[in-house]
Amino acid sequence: MPATLNHTIVFTNDKVSAAGFLSELLGIETTAWGPFVKVHVGETDLEFMNVKDAEWNDHVAPQHLCFLITEEEMDRVLERLEAHSVEPYTSPLYNERGVNHFYGGRGCYIRDIVDGHMLEFITAAYDDTPADVEDAKWRKAAVAKDHR
Ligand SMILES: [Fe+2]
Repeated sequence: MPATLNHTIVFTNDKVSAAGFLSELLGIETTAWGPFVKVHVGETDLEFMNVKDAEWNDHVAPQHLCFLITEEEMDRVLERLEAHSVEPYTSPLYNERGVNHFYGGRGCYIRDIVDGHMLEFITAAYDDTPADVEDAKWRKAAVAKDHR
């Protein structure tokens, strides 16, 4: 059986609000479980934990989480972002507001409203196009794949 990512801990300053925000965007229920509030995404549980409850960690480091969703779900995500006055950005550099059209789909990046975690939503999975640290080259490669 191939390995899957079963769960990961997402440290937060407010597990109810952070998990609630993500669950609202994705239309997924949350579950209270021990010290966590879980958001079950695909085969993976995102376990939101208040950093003040973790004896081994004393800070919330920004994490990047990307969610592959349908076009209909993207419509809902964008509506909910607008309702929360959260601006989507076209790249992880957060230098241009809007929605990208990489790999034949739509995608956007936001910072979650509780901790600033870098959340990404895409409707088409990335392929093996090599990424480049220079934004212009990276975007050019992704857009080129859009026109295959
Ligand atoms: Fe990403």
